[in-house]
Amino acid sequence: MVYMSVQHENTPKSPAWSKNSLAQDPHAIEDKHKRVKMMFTAIARRYDLNNRLHSMWQDQVWRSRAVRAAQLTGNEDVVDVACGTGDLAMAFCKEKVRSVLGIDFTQAMLELAITKAKNAKLAIDYRQGDAMNLQLPDCSADVVSIAFGIRNVQEPHKALAEFYRILRPGGRLVVLEFSTPSNNCVRFINSFYTNRIMPLTATLISGDTSGAYKYLPKSIETFACAKELAEEIRSTGFIDIKQQAQSFGVCTITCGTKS
Ligand SMILES: C[S@@+](CC[C@H](N)C(=O)[O-])C[C@H]1O[C@@H](n2cnc3c(N)ncnc32)[C@H](O)[C@@H]1O
Repeated sequence: MVYMSVQHENTPKSPAWSKNSLAQDPHAIEDKHKRVKMMFTAIARRYDLNNRLHSMWQDQVWRSRAVRAAQLTGNEDVVDVACGTGDLAMAFCKEKVRSVLGIDFTQAMLELAITKAKNAKLAIDYRQGDAMNLQLPDCSADVVSIAFGIRNVQEPHKALAEFYRILRPGGRLVVLEFSTPSNNCVRFINSFYTNRIMPLTATLISGDTSGAYKYLPKSIETFACAKELAEEIRSTGFIDIKQQAQSFGVCTITCGTKS
């Protein structure tokens, strides 16, 4: 079992996302990656609790469905990118796989992931790294997964190209990401909840001053919709693209295969 140590970073004092920065498209901001890292450093400690509460305990169901979507045969080397506190990496590790490697660029999230794996006695390797520049050889993974991560990456197309590069031919990509429900009524309720209620309650629970839970709805609203994401994955070279909407389309699992 290998647990890496991570460099210590202090919680930043100024907000990662101010009202001004969120008045524009946060994905177009030049230093988005820096702000994203600051934000996850600030909210890491209460990240899991906020996920469970605000998804009404559905987030782990979505992750287990993402694992199922990878169609494991028992021999896979899995790389979970933007692994955060490690929930998806742990879900993979509980299945029959050859290895699981979790990669994230925020050390505060990785530190929690390492502790959780250790407590659960799960053999997961964690490494600090950038989704857009994975320090892994070509054709070295059978499954690449990313949950609620691709939206946060500065240049998603670069990350997708990296996922394609490190996958072996026939390897599967599994992307779990928020999406917009197609039903008008569900969309209205979901939008009210994510824009009006969740920013208040999640900010309170995490004691956050980084603006993370104001960035969240804005970043979903301004990111590619599920159909556009599928198209971007296809244009990277993946074939056999399949999508499964979860919880009335609140999020979507998108899978692709490296030809
Ligand atoms: C919303 S969290 C998702 C964490 C986890 N996958 C989950 O299911 O809860 C997004 C994660 O993406 C990471 N991240 C964002 N951009 C990244 C990048 N370019 N490289 C590596 N990690 C990145 C952040 O540090 C954060 O931990």
